Amino acid sequence: MALQVELIPTGEIIRVVHPHRPCKLALGSDGVRVTMESALTARDRVGVQDFVLLENFTSEAAFIENLRRRFRENLIYTYIGPVLVSVNPYRDLQIYTQQHMERYRGVSFYKVPPHLFAVADTVYRALRTERRDQAVMISGESGAGKTEATKRLLQFYAETCPAPERGGAVRDRLLQSNPVLEAFGNAKTLRNDNSSRFGKYMDVQFDFKGAPVGGHILSYLLEKSRVVHQNHGERNFHVFYQLLEGGEEEMLRRLGLERNPQSYLYLVKGQCAKVSSINDKSDWKVVRKALTVIDFTEDEVEDLLSIVASVLHLGNIHFAADEESNAQVTTENQLKYLTRLLGVEGSTLREALTHRKIIAKGEELLSPLNLEQAAYARDALSKAVYSRTFTWLVRKINRSLASKDAESPSWRSTTVLGLLDIYGFEVFQHNSFEQFCINYCNEKLQQLFIELTLKSEQEEYEAEGIAWEPVQYFNNKIICDLVEEKFKGIISILDEECLRPGEATDLTFLEKLEDTVKYHPHFLTHKLADQPTRKSLGRGEFRLLHYAGEVTYSVTGFLDKNNDLLFRNLKETMCSSQNPIMSQCFDRSELSDKKRPETVATQFKMSLLQLVEILKSKEPAYIRCIKPNDSKQPGRFDEVLIRHQVKYLGLMENLRVRRAGFAYRRKYEAFLQRYKSLCPETWPTWTGRPQDGVAVLIRHLDYKPEEYKMGRTKIFIRFPKTLFATEDALEVRRQSLATKIQASWRGFHWRQKFLRVKRSAICIQSWWRGTLGRRRAAKRKWAAQTIRRLIRGFILRHAPYCPENAFFLDHVRTSFLLNLRQQLPRNILDTSWPTPPPALREASELLRELCVKNMVWKYCRSISPEWKQQLQQKAVASEIFKGKKDNYPQSVPRLFISTRLALEPLQPALCPQYAVPVVKYDRKGYKPRSRQLLLTPNAVVIVEDAKVKQRIDYANLTGISVSSLSDSLFVLHVQREDNKQKGDVVLQSDHVIETLTKTALSADCVNNININQGSITFAGGPGRDGIIDFTPGSELLITKAKNGHLAVVAPRLNSR
Ligand SMILES: Nc1ncnc2c1ncn2[C@@H]1O[C@H](COP(=O)(O)OP(=O)(O)O)[C@@H](O)[C@H]1O
Ligand SMILES: [Mg+2]
Repeated sequence: MALQVELIPTGEIIRVVHPHRPCKLALGSDGVRVTMESALTARDRVGVQDFVLLENFTSEAAFIENLRRRFRENLIYTYIGPVLVSVNPYRDLQIYTQQHMERYRGVSFYKVPPHLFAVADTVYRALRTERRDQAVMISGESGAGKTEATKRLLQFYAETCPAPERGGAVRDRLLQSNPVLEAFGNAKTLRNDNSSRFGKYMDVQFDFKGAPVGGHILSYLLEKSRVVHQNHGERNFHVFYQLLEGGEEEMLRRLGLERNPQSYLYLVKGQCAKVSSINDKSDWKVVRKALTVIDFTEDEVEDLLSIVASVLHLGNIHFAADEESNAQVTTENQLKYLTRLLGVEGSTLREALTHRKIIAKGEELLSPLNLEQAAYARDALSKAVYSRTFTWLVRKINRSLASKDAESPSWRSTTVLGLLDIYGFEVFQHNSFEQFCINYCNEKLQQLFIELTLKSEQEEYEAEGIAWEPVQYFNNKIICDLVEEKFKGIISILDEECLRPGEATDLTFLEKLEDTVKYHPHFLTHKLADQPTRKSLGRGEFRLLHYAGEVTYSVTGFLDKNNDLLFRNLKETMCSSQNPIMSQCFDRSELSDKKRPETVATQFKMSLLQLVEILKSKEPAYIRCIKPNDSKQPGRFDEVLIRHQVKYLGLMENLRVRRAGFAYRRKYEAFLQRYKSLCPETWPTWTGRPQDGVAVLIRHLDYKPEEYKMGRTKIFIRFPKTLFATEDALEVRRQSLATKIQASWRGFHWRQKFLRVKRSAICIQSWWRGTLGRRRAAKRKWAAQTIRRLIRGFILRHAPYCPENAFFLDHVRTSFLLNLRQQLPRNILDTSWPTPPPALREASELLRELCVKNMVWKYCRSISPEWKQQLQQKAVASEIFKGKKDNYPQSVPRLFISTRLALEPLQPALCPQYAVPVVKYDRKGYKPRSRQLLLTPNAVVIVEDAKVKQRIDYANLTGISVSSLSDSLFVLHVQREDNKQKGDVVLQSDHVIETLTKTALSADCVNNININQGSITFAGGPGRDGIIDFTPGSELLITKAKNGHLAVVAPRLNSR
């Protein structure tokens, strides 16, 4: 798709997405910049965007031609330096969109085409960077687009400024206060369908971050006569029509209203209730919604609308004259509604509408009113009710806009941006007191403009010693003086006429005027005028030659309007109103206040003086609005009308001063302070004179001689572009400075942090080291003490237990007892036992016994019956033989067993408990014979190869003899009386200890075992005894000795 672009009225380029559809895409800011060059040339082709660039800058024709060419191309904005000239296009140009706001936001003034938003942004940035209050003064005659511009500015700030931290609703409130104020304060006039009938100065407060945080509105003189009368083709205030058009049935019924505006006398005077350009119904919706945004409760809305309705009802109150020509209310219905809506007594209201209360010599007198007076009283009441309600409304809005931080400390101090949208200069067919005030106001503002731009500028050049060709301009101070001068001014004369006793009328006022200011060049009356002029002047009129043109005022109503009288009983009635808004508007203190209130004109004059002071205290920006034609038509460029405005607005003079002058000036100190960072010699501090610093600085910046001039205290820069270039450089420099500051701050910050951490670490370390050291020292101390105590204890270990050795001894004891556990004997046979310290000897012995007992007990529990028997036998053996017989030790390790034979068939029958091979020696020849010895339950049986050879009952076994040597011979002694026995039996067993032990046990003759030394005598047979001699020798030898004894040589054993 081919890229299509379109040049829109501000001279910017917009890409058309689809040629037939209205959806357009603005290029991003980069896109804009890319196309800037071509856009600039495109713009330049349509005249110049700054009149300063106009070749023939002294020619009014060239000026107007430039305006015309641009207007034809829908380029409604043109600059004269920083002043924005705006021509009302009377059509929606689509130049206030979100995209436009974005485009103008934060961009240097000269880089973008002229636009209201460029001014808005410049003002805002000045407010932020310089933190100085700003004021945007929007001037121009009625219908030139002032209110529209104010709204757009507000919209711009609401949408582009950052949201405040708290109370973001303030932006909505700022925006929404507008439709409400417009409904109550604007009306259709011949000049403008939405003409502001009050002056408005609005402050928007910004916090230090540049977010709107609050606002305040000052309102000036509402044209209240409009409530009761409108010129032909004009309307009453919008709110009446909006309520009737848009109000719900139910609401209208409650308020006692009919939908048709024709039913209300206050709405029919202008005969144009319906206007095509106004949609009352949808406006009503907007107002209703806005009321909620600005904190109106349902009750408050109801109260407010009750008042609006009651004004309409008041208008419909009729009077009829009775016989005495006194007025009587004839419209009961209206009265009834009024009673209800205003919350007043019906009878009181009726009386107040038809009587006048006079206080004479402290007495109250009621004097009836005639028809005319009653109608006047009624209208006065309507005007008072409406205008006071309007004042209340402004107060209420201000409460809603008030910054919530108003009382907070100064660091949150706010800067203020003022927007002045005041009624423009107006001339009608019939001009009255209101127009007089309005035009006076415009004179004052023009005067301020002159002071701030033309006069002061030229004076400044002079003061600063800058070579300068003065520019001539018309100074309207003379007209301001004519109106406001003390004693001689029109307002003073009017006041005097109002206050003086006697019959003062509008005409006597005119006469007075003629007397006092007759020679004034800007004043004219029928009487003072020359013949031709006289024709155009009525007798009851005077003419002022305003800066903006001649205006003929009719004096009719001047006195009344200036007095603004409301009969006392009407005031009283309203003071008793139950309607909360009314009771706030009419205060009882007013009744008791004897002092005459200031007249309207004087009040207005004061408020204007105040306004001028407010504006002077701020940095001004100007928007000069021009009305292209009187018929509110788009595209019509009425040259005469425009030339007239260009003239009276002083635009040509403005341009001339501008061209000859300097775009920018600043005190050396301020200039140096702001830009010193751009030059190494002045940064960071310049110690010399600021002027020299500036000189160094601009040399460094390479300013050309024609670009600037050095004054006495200020530098003057001729072209904005020079300053903008410097600003751009500052912006870049700032970035790098910011980066540097950031870096050093970060460095500092982290270093501080590091140092803090280091300090902490050292602190912890030292604390910990201290703790460790202290612990170690304590331990060492303890150890030394312990060692000392041990040594001392050791030295005194033998002394009785005393404090000196107690520790040592206790220690020895404890350690003995603690160590004992590890050193206990492992088994019964282990006889080891640690040596106890002397003091524990007894305890140790007891413990040892316990231990042994325990081991024994454990051992005993663990042995088998067979083993037990074995041990018992071994014990018996030990008892008998230990230390008595030489070969006993050899038997100890050998187990006793129950048989040492392979049993013969006979033997089992004998049930032997023990069997062993033995050698039997004959009693006579001592012949050895192999036999077996069996032990049965009752007897010892000698068997030879399964044949019982001899049986010795245990009862008959009287004893056993054995030698003490290592032989294995033994003798069983048998009862001699036993006949069956042949004598004692001499036997030899290889297991003699076992055999004898078992035998002794079986025969229960343990105690009858004799262990003999040397020899044994035995019974060999009846009457014959044998002897066995034992001698130790080298080896066992059993022989019959020559003496007939049995000689036994027993081997000597090692153990003996
Ligand atoms: N910038 C504009 N763009 C489009 N229409 C405008 C513009 N300025 C003014 N108008 C039209 O002109 C009418 C009168 O403007 P307004 O601001 O009320 O005049 P003033 O306040 O100066 O009397 C507005 O209602 C509107 O229709
Ligand atoms: Mg206006």
